[in-house]
Amino acid sequence: MANKSKEIIMAIETSCDETAVAILADGKELLVNLVSSQIKIHQQFGGVVPEIASRQHLEQVNRLIDLALKEAGLTFAQLTALAVTYGPGLVGALLVGVSTAKALAYSVNLPLVGVNHVEGHIYANWLAQEEREFPLVCLIVSGGHTALVEMRGHGEYRFLGETQDDAAGEAFDKVARAMGLGYPGGPLLDALAREGNGTAVQLPRAWLGGNNYNFSFSGVKTAVLNYLNKAAQKGEEVNKADLAASFQASVVEVLVEKTVRAAQEKKLKTVLMAGGVSANSLLREQMQQRCQEEKLNLAYPPSEYCTDNAAMIACAAHYRYLKGERSGWDLNAVPQLRLR
Ligand SMILES: Nc1ncnc2c1ncn2[C@@H]1O[C@H](COP(=O)(O)OP(=O)(O)OP(=O)(O)O)[C@@H](O)[C@H]1O
Ligand SMILES: [Mg+2]
Repeated sequence: MANKSKEIIMAIETSCDETAVAILADGKELLVNLVSSQIKIHQQFGGVVPEIASRQHLEQVNRLIDLALKEAGLTFAQLTALAVTYGPGLVGALLVGVSTAKALAYSVNLPLVGVNHVEGHIYANWLAQEEREFPLVCLIVSGGHTALVEMRGHGEYRFLGETQDDAAGEAFDKVARAMGLGYPGGPLLDALAREGNGTAVQLPRAWLGGNNYNFSFSGVKTAVLNYLNKAAQKGEEVNKADLAASFQASVVEVLVEKTVRAAQEKKLKTVLMAGGVSANSLLREQMQQRCQEEKLNLAYPPSEYCTDNAAMIACAAHYRYLKGERSGWDLNAVPQLRLR
């Protein structure tokens, strides 16, 4: 049961295929964290079907809001603010969350805070109740985004580089799909790669030239597809564990080296990781090793907060709320929303 004098934020997240509601007190005490995944429904199609995602959100969102209040032993009157993801994401899916949050906030007279989903992923790093030292560099590696961002304070972002084609998670999912591993492919490929040899298959690394912090994963993805096609034509068996490990090694090496170089060149002592791919075991291991060698502080969220959840949205909303930011009743879903 939360104390009434606390700042208590309820957050709603519906940007893709997870309906999530969380309640966070004072930016760090997670009272409730509910995630209703649609993975089983989308699995049969091999990926997210936007229209089905929206309908599922509609069915789940009010139930989760009621359940969250019940589990926290709270009423709407005890909340301080309502937060909601308003982009980036699938427009229909986002609209369910945004409309629900606006209707609720208006009817129970609560301030509304719109949150950028990618900022939410970054702020999963502040859920662990620790302060992070600015200036820092954050490697964002999710299903739809891959970027290196410099942060000099809360909510201040400067893009150092980003992907020019596929996002890291998207590349994992596409390669896993081509290998017949299932959906979502990232965690399955990660598990399989642990049984393989990462140097067994020669795959390209996209460095993209000297001082570049951009990324590209379509080359390595195509190399894997070609490798699979050639083996199929010749009727040769593919060692999937070796191929998974080699693909993962290629992606992780570039992610780690560019992040460490950015930290060194920009004199940033702290490295954060955010998004679903930051749950990857090799990425964590290699980033840890390189950061230790270069005397950089490294942090990343616990695995359950790397993929979509509403706790991270509540945490990002907390810092915006503290700055006095409020959204108007004209808040709308913005599918291509950028970090500002
Ligand atoms: N252990 C892992 N190794 C590699 N990839 C992983 C792992 N766990 C999850 N992923 C990948 O993370 C992605 C999902 O993460 P996330 O929830 O951050 O993405 P999203 O919400 O779909 O995209 P975005 O946040 O960019 O809109 C998927 O592509 C998934 O395959
Ligand atoms: Mg996400």
